[in-house]
This record gives sequence, C-alpha cells and structure tokens, in this order.
Amino acid sequence: MKLIIINGPNLNLLGKREPTIYGNTSFEDFLFELKKEYQSKGVEIEYFQSNEEGKLINKLHETGFSYDGIILNAGAYTHTSIAIADAIAAIDTPVIEVHISNVHKRESFRHHSYLSANAAGIIIGFGLKGYKLAIESFM
Ligand code: DQA
Repeated sequence: MKLIIINGPNLNLLGKREPTIYGNTSFEDFLFELKKEYQSKGVEIEYFQSNEEGKLINKLHETGFSYDGIILNAGAYTHTSIAIADAIAAIDTPVIEVHISNVHKRESFRHHSYLSANAAGIIIGFGLKGYKLAIESFM
C-alpha cells in the first residue's frame, strides 16, 4: 500500500513552532519512526511539505490518481483554500484531513474547514498520533 503525507505551511517548523500547541518533536524524527513501523506491515509512506498553496495542489494532482491514500494537514490553508478543496474533490484517492491541535478549542477562524466536506475522514486534536490513526484507517 502506498500512502503520502502532505503537510502545509509552517509544519516544517514542528518541534520548534509553538511547542505548547504542537509539541517538541520534529516531523522528520516522527516520520523516521513511522516509516520504520509501517514498512514491515507493507505500507510505503512518502512525505511532502510545502509552504506554498500551488505546490500542495500540484502534489495532490500528482498522487491523487495512483496512491492508495493521502493524509493531508493543510495547516492554515484548511481555513482559507477553496482551491485545495477543489483539488481534493477532483482526485480519485481518498484524503484524510489531519490536524495536530484541536482546532475547535482554538480561535473561531480555525473552526471552519473548506476541506472537510471533500475529505474521506477527519482526525483532529490527537497530536502527531493523528497521522498514525489516519494510516490505520487505510489498512
Ligand atoms: C493545524 C491547525 C491550523 O489551524 C494551523 O493553521 C496549522 C496547524 C494543526 O495541525 O493543528 O498550521 O492544521
């Protein structure tokens, strides 16, 4: 099974960025362990991160007709991007929307997601474990 994790803006700073909200672990360290754990279970995990909306859309197009699943944390674009919502609707591969923090406990502008209506599922507020739960949902 081939999955891709796509992370959006500012998620390259995980481990350094607002650690009380997002934790102290860098995504690279987390990904290393994640790949190790799931490789033996026949799950290949690719990773892509960009701070640019168009690059996230290009990656959804690139992987969205051949991969088995996409795990997407679009960061703040979740709350602004009709273009990413359209890209999710346009592709065949199911997309799980993940948020590390519980966005519903935070500022009201984080309560609305343009992406959720087009996502196969949503995982919110479980920290980095949310990415694991998303992988498990495809197995
Ligand atoms: C986030 C929540 C978003 O509101 C925020 O803009 C992010 C990260 C999360 O994973 O909790 O960048 O998607």
